[in-house]
Amino acid sequence: MSAKRVAVLVSGGGTNLQALINAQRRGAIPSGKIELVVSNVEGAYALERAKKAGISARTILRRAYSSQAEFEGAIIRALEEAQIDIIVLAGFLAILSESFTSRYPRRILNIHPSLIPSFCGEGFYGLKVHEAALQKGVKVSGATVHFVNEIPDGGEILLQKAVAVRADDTPETLQKRIMRLAEWKLLPKAVEMVCAEMKERDS
Ligand code: GRF
Repeated sequence: MSAKRVAVLVSGGGTNLQALINAQRRGAIPSGKIELVVSNVEGAYALERAKKAGISARTILRRAYSSQAEFEGAIIRALEEAQIDIIVLAGFLAILSESFTSRYPRRILNIHPSLIPSFCGEGFYGLKVHEAALQKGVKVSGATVHFVNEIPDGGEILLQKAVAVRADDTPETLQKRIMRLAEWKLLPKAVEMVCAEMKERDS
C-alpha cells in the first residue's frame, strides 16, 4: 500500500512545514508523503522551503476570486489534481468554510499553539495566543494538533504537549519555545499517526 498523499497549507514562515519536511527526510513519516504546498500569501517563505525540498507549491490568493466559495473551489481543484488524502494546516491563516471542512472529515489537521480549550477559537492566532496566555498568568501552555471541523479549533484533539511558561517570558519567547519544544515535534507525529490509520483502514 503506497504512502498517503499529504498537502500542507501555509501563510507564513513555514517552520512547521520545515519540521514536516525534516521528519520526512529522516524517515519519520513512512505512511505519508508531502506532495503539495498551498499558500494563500504571495511570497510566503514557506513557498521557498517547499521549492528547496522539491515539493510542488501553489499560491492561491483570496483576492483573485470574487467569493469565498470560488477561492475554496480553487484550493479543492489543486488538492484533487494532486490526489491529496490528508490536508495539514500549518500556520494557514485563511478561514475555511463549513462546506470545505465537511468535505474532508477527519482528513484536515491543524496545529494550534496552546493547550486547547485554552486560548483558542475565533481571534486566537499567532502572537495573540501567547499574549492571552501571559495575560492570564498560566504557568503551563503548549500546543495541540486537532482535526478540523466547522468550529474554529473545535475538532477532535489528536496530540497535545505542555510547555512551561517562564516568569520572564514575552509573547515572542513563549511562541518560540512552544514551537521548538512542542509544535515541531507534535505535527510530524500526528501526520504519521493519521496517515498510518488511513492506510490501515484501506487495507
Ligand atoms: C504556529 O505557531 C502555528 O501553531 C500557528 O501558526 C504558526 C505558524 O508558524 N497555527 P510557521 O509558519 O509554521 O512558522
